[in-house]
Amino acid sequence: MSERTFSIIKPDALAAGHAGAILSRIEKAGFRIVALRMRRLTRPEAEGFYHVHRERPFFGGLCDYMSSGPCITMVLERENGIAGLRELMGATDPASAAEGTIRKDFARSIEANAIHGSDAPETAAFEIGYFFPGVELSSVR
Ligand code: CMP
Repeated sequence: MSERTFSIIKPDALAAGHAGAILSRIEKAGFRIVALRMRRLTRPEAEGFYHVHRERPFFGGLCDYMSSGPCITMVLERENGIAGLRELMGATDPASAAEGTIRKDFARSIEANAIHGSDAPETAAFEIGYFFPGVELSSVR
């Protein structure tokens, strides 16, 4: 079944000029870009987006970093899209990410880790609605 997921090409990857290479990998892996917008998050937007992590010690640094420069927010669609994108991204910490994954090749650190992807259908629904209100979670095709 075709499934939508939400992704961010993070400020470190954009600043380093990796946005095109990352998008190319996403498209080559069979994802369709449903919605895409470059934007610089405000700190409150970053805090709201990552609210599930608000008790974590890295929350403040993560929100500072995510609002430090422009990023690319996207809704992507593919068969098994949520798990498929996470496989393509690799582990959160690039030091543990598998060869050939986006984070292995482009991420700088566990915080500046190049790309975000939703981890479950419920989070995909929240994240898509947070940045693209009006875009449906499930495919219409
Ligand atoms: P992401 O997939 O966007 O989801 C939460 C983010 O928090 C994660 O990627 C990292 O950028 C960041 N993160 C997770 N764990 C840590 C950590 N231990 N230290 C710093 N940042 C982290």
